[in-house]
Amino acid sequence: MHRVSKLSLPLRPALLLLIPLAIALLAACTPDNNQSTFGTAGPIAKDQAELFKFIFWIAAIVFVLVEGAIIYIAIRFRRRSDTDKLPYQTHGNNRLEITWTILPVLILAVIAVPTLTDIWAQQNTVPEDLGEVLNVEAIGHQWWFEFRYPNHEVVTSNELHIPVNRPVAFKLESQDVIHSFWVPKIAGKVDMVPLNDNFMWMIGDEVGEYYGQCAEFCGIAHAHMRFRVIVHEEADFQAWINGMHTAADAPVAGSSEARGKNLFAANCSSCHTNDSTTPGSYAREIISQQARWNGWVSDIENSGIVSAPNLTHFGTHNTIGAGLKDLTQESLEGWIIDPSSVKIGTRMQKHAALYDTADGKANLTPAEVSDIATYLLSLKPGTAPVGTVIETGGADGADIFATNCTSCHSTGDDTIVGPGLAGIGERAALQVAGMSTYDYLEQSLREPSAYVVDGFPNVMPEWSHLGDDSVDALIDYLTTLN
Ligand code: CUA
Repeated sequence: MHRVSKLSLPLRPALLLLIPLAIALLAACTPDNNQSTFGTAGPIAKDQAELFKFIFWIAAIVFVLVEGAIIYIAIRFRRRSDTDKLPYQTHGNNRLEITWTILPVLILAVIAVPTLTDIWAQQNTVPEDLGEVLNVEAIGHQWWFEFRYPNHEVVTSNELHIPVNRPVAFKLESQDVIHSFWVPKIAGKVDMVPLNDNFMWMIGDEVGEYYGQCAEFCGIAHAHMRFRVIVHEEADFQAWINGMHTAADAPVAGSSEARGKNLFAANCSSCHTNDSTTPGSYAREIISQQARWNGWVSDIENSGIVSAPNLTHFGTHNTIGAGLKDLTQESLEGWIIDPSSVKIGTRMQKHAALYDTADGKANLTPAEVSDIATYLLSLKPGTAPVGTVIETGGADGADIFATNCTSCHSTGDDTIVGPGLAGIGERAALQVAGMSTYDYLEQSLREPSAYVVDGFPNVMPEWSHLGDDSVDALIDYLTTLN
């Protein structure tokens, strides 16, 4: 006699193995998990979690009833012996068929009520009665997040700061491919689509730090495209905004930070802006980011430039690599030396000239890496009074240029944001009749909006805080560029 009801032996251990697997999977649902949607910290995530539970329990009841009936019938009416005859075959029962058609319709109608209510409440604009709205533009890049605060003229990357209990309205954009913006504990996910802005809003109702994650496959580092949301008390948020408008103190001459600043300027500053604190710097960064993108798109294989996170006050960040690792001197050095060992496929390593080496690691000595990391960690809102004059401190014009100008100007013919400066001395002499090269260049530094070269944006900051000796050194250097 062949009994189909008995499990064959190898199947049993296999089923037993499923139990720890199921427990491990369910453990991911613990509300304490950083990306669990069950422990919520905002009304939108809370409503979504409650809707999920409501639908889950209805589905669970349906599952138990239907599966229970199947199991009961399979056992109750099983074939008991070889002599059992085939039962009487029926087809069609109008009463039953109408019942199991109407029941699901009713269940779906019940589920539709809170579902549609939530969709209407959460889509589109922020309800007006919830408080002063903070506007943020979140932009997805392969593979990091940019955050712009248009009303505060602040731009930052990978760490989003918001005030507690105030609605935040997001314009969601992408510069390259489709990403998805998701802060599991505060709000559900919405896609970031190139050339098609999306909208979402959220409220964080508990002060703290929360995980964000790109939730749409967007290339090799998709799983590593994370961010953090820091929810502040209102006063702390305002302090953060003010800090973002306060320049970092200049490093002490001869210090590790000073050496790091020069190395950063020489190797990193065409892609990373790190001083978006002054008036006009917000508009400039938007143009720079677009220029980097255009530069990359124009030659994707060989471009030496690529869109990159703004590093203003990077020393106040908690993480590196778009939320991948805690920010420490050690983790930062590891990142600078070989970013792909932390986050596979970084564009920085592929495109920056710094990594054009046999093993693909940074072309820097350990001491230089340490200096850059020390400098970046020192970038915090400074204590120097506004309007402090930049003195040369012994630096020559090339140094002043490297630390202040290279994010917008190349020394060759390439346009970054402003024109390439090869031959600027000769061109300057021809710009304004009766004006000497020196006077023209000085005016261009101190009052750049006086003469804007055709075809370039009027976004250059006024370098009125450059000391006279700095201006002299800089002009001497500029006139040597051929
Ligand atoms: Cu961006 Cu996935």
